[in-house]
Amino acid sequence: EKGTYDHYMLKEIHEQPGVMRNIIQNYQDEEGNLKIDKAIIDDVAQADRIYIVACGTSYHAGLVGKEFIEKWAEVPTEVHVASEFVYNMPILSKKPLFIFISQSGETADSRAVLVEAKRLGHKALTITNVPGSTLSREADHTLILHAGPEIAVASTKAYTAQIAVLAILSQVVANAHNKNTGVDIIPELAKVTTAITAIVDDAPKMEQIAKDFLETTRNAFFIGRTMDYYVGLEGALKLKEISYIQAEGFAGGELKHGTIALIEEGTPIVALATQEKVNLSIRGNVKEVVARGANPCIISMEGLEHDHDTYVIPHVHEMLSPLVSVVTLQLISYYAALHRGCDVDKPRNLAKSVTVE
Ligand code: M6R
Repeated sequence: EKGTYDHYMLKEIHEQPGVMRNIIQNYQDEEGNLKIDKAIIDDVAQADRIYIVACGTSYHAGLVGKEFIEKWAEVPTEVHVASEFVYNMPILSKKPLFIFISQSGETADSRAVLVEAKRLGHKALTITNVPGSTLSREADHTLILHAGPEIAVASTKAYTAQIAVLAILSQVVANAHNKNTGVDIIPELAKVTTAITAIVDDAPKMEQIAKDFLETTRNAFFIGRTMDYYVGLEGALKLKEISYIQAEGFAGGELKHGTIALIEEGTPIVALATQEKVNLSIRGNVKEVVARGANPCIISMEGLEHDHDTYVIPHVHEMLSPLVSVVTLQLISYYAALHRGCDVDKPRNLAKSVTVE
């Protein structure tokens, strides 16, 4: 039930600190060690390449997950949109492992790839919110998201849960390989939980940002570099699916290769700046669009903020900043849709799970 919330989406956004706590609890044993089935760890650790396959928001979580798997577990990883992969399969490595990410576990596009992967004799792991779902039953292994039922069509808490589970998985595989990631994942996720709580408590500020930047606009652009690019893709999807504002996410450096032609006086640009290595370059990209009249909404992270940033998220480990920055974008999208009179929980033309190819 929605309880005191006006919409499931808002409720599910607010549930995210609790979801993080559930994940921390479910993926730890009594001694506080990370807990994942040995058979899963072995299959990931033995794979020479990982193929993450998913759709929509789950695909965006996969993009973030790839960074953990490559940087921490050091297994080469590709991320694919399921509906493309099925018709245009890359040359597979000798010992591939497929990871399907799906909130519902019922997405037909992803299932088509799973069927093909099994036909070819490959191992598959499904990361899903729904135990007993089709993708879970048909894969060799399952990791559960522990996010609780997600009712709103726009996925929110499943995305953050997917990223948290992928982070834990990558850390466990790194441990199995005796690789020191330099990251103590449980305390870092605890920090993330606190940061998400601070942001949901700041919802009125997000509502104001939605008013200032998105109330009447036709379109909006999201830019970021590295991890922030992936979060921008998710922010744009969230905004377009519930508010019907035409929104696109771009890599900060790619804008000048064409898209910048779309910038007009007042065009909102949401720029994410949570990554130290690219902080100056993304700010350079913001200057480029401001010079063409854009209205910049800059979301940065403590320690990297500049004067006049629109919102500064609490400091967390840079690799985990997507878990926090996305919550600002979820809330901004929610309020933008609300103010524009849209049916937030049931946007037009969409179903919660897409069971046709
Ligand atoms: O259940 P799944 O995670 O497999 O669903 C994948 C997409 O259909 C889903 O994420 C969709 O993009 C959402 N409406 C996004 O909010």
